[in-house]
Amino acid sequence: MPSFDRFDRRHYTTTSVPAGYGAWAPTYESTVEDCMDLALLNRIASVPWDGVTRAADLGCGSGRTASWLRTIGPFPIDGVDITPEMLQLARTRGVHDRLVHGDVRSTGLDTGAYDLVVCCLVDEHLPDLGPLYEEARRLLVPPATFVMVGFHPFFIMSTGMPTHFDSTDGDTLAIETHVHLLGEHMAAAGGTGFQASELHEQLVDDEFIRLKPSWEACRDWPFSYAWVWSLP
Ligand SMILES: C[S@@+](CC[C@H](N)C(=O)[O-])C[C@H]1O[C@@H](n2cnc3c(N)ncnc32)[C@H](O)[C@@H]1O
Repeated sequence: MPSFDRFDRRHYTTTSVPAGYGAWAPTYESTVEDCMDLALLNRIASVPWDGVTRAADLGCGSGRTASWLRTIGPFPIDGVDITPEMLQLARTRGVHDRLVHGDVRSTGLDTGAYDLVVCCLVDEHLPDLGPLYEEARRLLVPPATFVMVGFHPFFIMSTGMPTHFDSTDGDTLAIETHVHLLGEHMAAAGGTGFQASELHEQLVDDEFIRLKPSWEACRDWPFSYAWVWSLP
């Protein structure tokens, strides 16, 4: 897969995931917009949300994804994140049943204990997708669903923009970013037994441009994607 360095047009100083999200945590909620990820979750049609018995929220961050899941059903949700400051935000939010400090590729959660795994806005931080798909597969017991929402590779490559934030001392910092083409998801998911049920792409639309007027030049480009993988 191509390295992000080939596309980088911002040349921000790059931090590790825990250092970056640790510094971003105080302002994270005010900078990540629902149109980037939650709008895609709203478009998913094939998941039997009513039948979910327990969900794992990988890379749970501050709990935005779990808050959305709470609007869908009363099932318990366990969250995992590698950044203590983000986990603290999730703890304060109080929408998870259990919060674990860990890596999405090796969560320590119980094997086969879930029928829904969600992972939103995380995969661009992983150099390889295989271990994430393998861990999601380990956690699930069929019939089950894995929902992956991510930063669209087309947007990363065309804009040369990594995941980034403005630090409190005024610098803009990037967080380690990797490009994963859609075919890489197919290969990693197929290799672990998942079947593709849905693929949605969120374009830069009027709502994005209202929030980020400088993105007019990117109108109609795909910003994010949602894969729905099923285990029949
Ligand atoms: C952009 S935030 C997304 C949080 C949440 N899912 C949301 O949609 O708002 C990415 C989160 O993934 C976490 N993360 C990134 N790589 C991780 C890894 N390898 N293991 C666990 N958490 C990770 C970060 O710490 C951060 O909290």
